[in-house]
Amino acid sequence: MIRFGVLGAGRIGKVHARTIASNPKAKLAYVADAMPKAAEDLAAMYGAKPATVDAIMAAKDVDAVLIGSPTGFHAEQIQAASNNGKAIMCEKPVSLSVEKIHETLKVVEKNKSTLMIGFNRRFDPHFAELESRLRKGAVGAIEIVTVISRDPAPPPADYVKGSGGLYRDMMIHDFDMARFLMGEEFVVVNALGSALVDKAIGEAGDVDTAAVQMQTASGRIAVITNSRRATYGYDQRMEVHGSKGMLAARNVHNTTVELHNAEGTLADPVQNFFLERYGQAYANELNTFITAVESGNRDPRPSGFDGLQAQKLADAATESWKTGKPVKVS
Ligand SMILES: NC(=O)c1ccc[n+]([C@@H]2O[C@H](COP(=O)([O-])OP(=O)(O)OC[C@H]3O[C@@H](n4cnc5c(N)ncnc54)[C@H](O)[C@@H]3O)[C@@H](O)[C@H]2O)c1
Repeated sequence: MIRFGVLGAGRIGKVHARTIASNPKAKLAYVADAMPKAAEDLAAMYGAKPATVDAIMAAKDVDAVLIGSPTGFHAEQIQAASNNGKAIMCEKPVSLSVEKIHETLKVVEKNKSTLMIGFNRRFDPHFAELESRLRKGAVGAIEIVTVISRDPAPPPADYVKGSGGLYRDMMIHDFDMARFLMGEEFVVVNALGSALVDKAIGEAGDVDTAAVQMQTASGRIAVITNSRRATYGYDQRMEVHGSKGMLAARNVHNTTVELHNAEGTLADPVQNFFLERYGQAYANELNTFITAVESGNRDPRPSGFDGLQAQKLADAATESWKTGKPVKVS
């Protein structure tokens, strides 16, 4: 039985608490939040106890921590959990600073801790199936990976100011998916970006519309496009084109019902945002972590290294957008 302490009882902490509580191999023991009432409410839903972050770190009856606090706390909480002998599942991103990720991974390595990073899209059943067929050779040698990711509506400009910018906050998931599908590291990144959706996002120093091209040492290419707005819902698609064909994963609609009439065909809207679209992915992700901890697998994926590589690509894209030049990635 893996006994969990959840750090952060916000949007994502609630999703993960539900999965922990519903897995027979796990137990939700404690919940901590900077706002005690939030911890109390979430703990009460599943018969857990509210506690402070420090108490969870020190607790002998906690085997694993789930870090769902705001990004700025992830690195220090990973380090504290590692130094206290806990297994760690941490939400993306590890940190907005590559330096800090290096420092954190050194601590994790020294303590031989189990660390998994919350790049949930790898666990989406559709994308996981695409990747599995890709690895079995369905399209031959990979030539171009295309990832399209559009949010239904932009966040408030205030959120954008503390987010690290679109490439680090939003496209980070797509950098991870592009690496996951390509199976080879990218060595150069070229980014374009504009504020076309909300002028306030541009005034806050960020973009809401972006396209990135990346290339591996062997010449394979990935193209990612992002928008902070899509009038038709949460647009999440990917394609891999190769020497023998093309694999594509399309959007998931609210239902499979379509209206056909003389004007054409009308499908239901696509699922609106991440909590609906990736509900199954979040559960699969955390259940994978629980199985890894239970079976003594100390290297579940996506790993801390995957977190580091995605962050490097996000930094390179940010620099490329600012300088107008392609940026090499080491
Ligand atoms: N993988 C995904 O798809 C996904 C989706 C949403 C959020 N996230 C990530 O999860 C993290 C949290 O995002 P959210 O949307 O749930 O935010 P949120 O604001 O809804 O929740 C964060 C919670 O953490 C609490 N908190 C603040 N400081 C804390 C601390 N030091 N220790 C413990 N708790 C603290 C806040 O009071 C709040 O209740 C972010 O890093 C975000 O990038 C990932």
